[in-house]
Amino acid sequence: MVYYKAMKKVLVSGIQATGKLHFGNYFGAMKQNIELANSGEYESYIFVADYHALTTVKDKDALKQSALEIAAAYIACGLDLTKATLFRQSSVPEHTELATVFNNVVTMPYLMRAHAFKDHEAKDKEVNVGLFDYPVLMAADILIYQADVVPVGQDQKQHIEYARDIAGFYNRAWNVEQFKLPKEHIMDAVATVPGVDGAKMSKSKGNVISLFGTDEEVKKSVMGIVTDSKAPEEKKDPDTNNVYNIHKLFLTDEEVQALRAKFEDGGYGYKQAKDDLLATIMKWREGKKEVFDDLMNNQDKLRAILVDGGARAQSKARETIAQVRQQIGLKM
Ligand code: TRP
Repeated sequence: MVYYKAMKKVLVSGIQATGKLHFGNYFGAMKQNIELANSGEYESYIFVADYHALTTVKDKDALKQSALEIAAAYIACGLDLTKATLFRQSSVPEHTELATVFNNVVTMPYLMRAHAFKDHEAKDKEVNVGLFDYPVLMAADILIYQADVVPVGQDQKQHIEYARDIAGFYNRAWNVEQFKLPKEHIMDAVATVPGVDGAKMSKSKGNVISLFGTDEEVKKSVMGIVTDSKAPEEKKDPDTNNVYNIHKLFLTDEEVQALRAKFEDGGYGYKQAKDDLLATIMKWREGKKEVFDDLMNNQDKLRAILVDGGARAQSKARETIAQVRQQIGLKM
């Protein structure tokens, strides 16, 4: 048995944001990552998935910028750096070494069943090998730290299943018990964050509300939320309402009930509902946006945090790689 005996359970999460961060990123992944990491119950590895971003980004300045913004956003949103290791995936090239090993126990037909691959194929896009192999690199991200839990949104469920399968493929191929099978951790209530048009909030759909963009940008997005044409006095069904479905993400259970009642009772027009949502978002940003802007204006400090995190993550990753090299015959 060579299971790594950690004192604490290990949490791993990556975020591959290309372009500006939005509330879909926050409620879909960052918020739960931060809460779980800050609980102190886990040994937490949180990283910017910049190798993964290369599957789509071919602009070096954009790649660097978004890596820094993701790190700054995590800190601004409250990630406790004494409890979590925050780093860039590319600071730990052992991720790719493990992916290279895994590539030899994963078949092409198996990867062809991946949703992301099928979606790209269906759209007749040219699929690069990095994208095809995305689930294998993601499995390496997770397994190299011997993760117990991987907090992700609903859309990443299949990737975690792949990581579980790949752990098993490896163990069986070399007849070892190297990798334990990781679990996903999906927070149901916020599993999918609706965008301003009601479809899942995502950069590619252009339906996002920016996390740390300017006040004007945020206002414009909120005022642009798609609604039906019911008059203010009419009663409204909150559940089919985009303004409500976005607003509730920010609220406590009690506040959600109060907001529901406003919609259901009538007399709550969409203009008012949007103004109230905007006020909630601006309040959420208070304090956080200053920290974010400050870090983005002091990039040396931010870089130092990432370098330090990378070194800590790498020392853990190297333990796993050393075991793997020995198990598969790469250690002389
Ligand atoms: N695929 C994830 C996403 O798009 C990002 C990611 C990469 C990730 N590696 C990971 C998430 C490892 C969790 C664990 O959001």
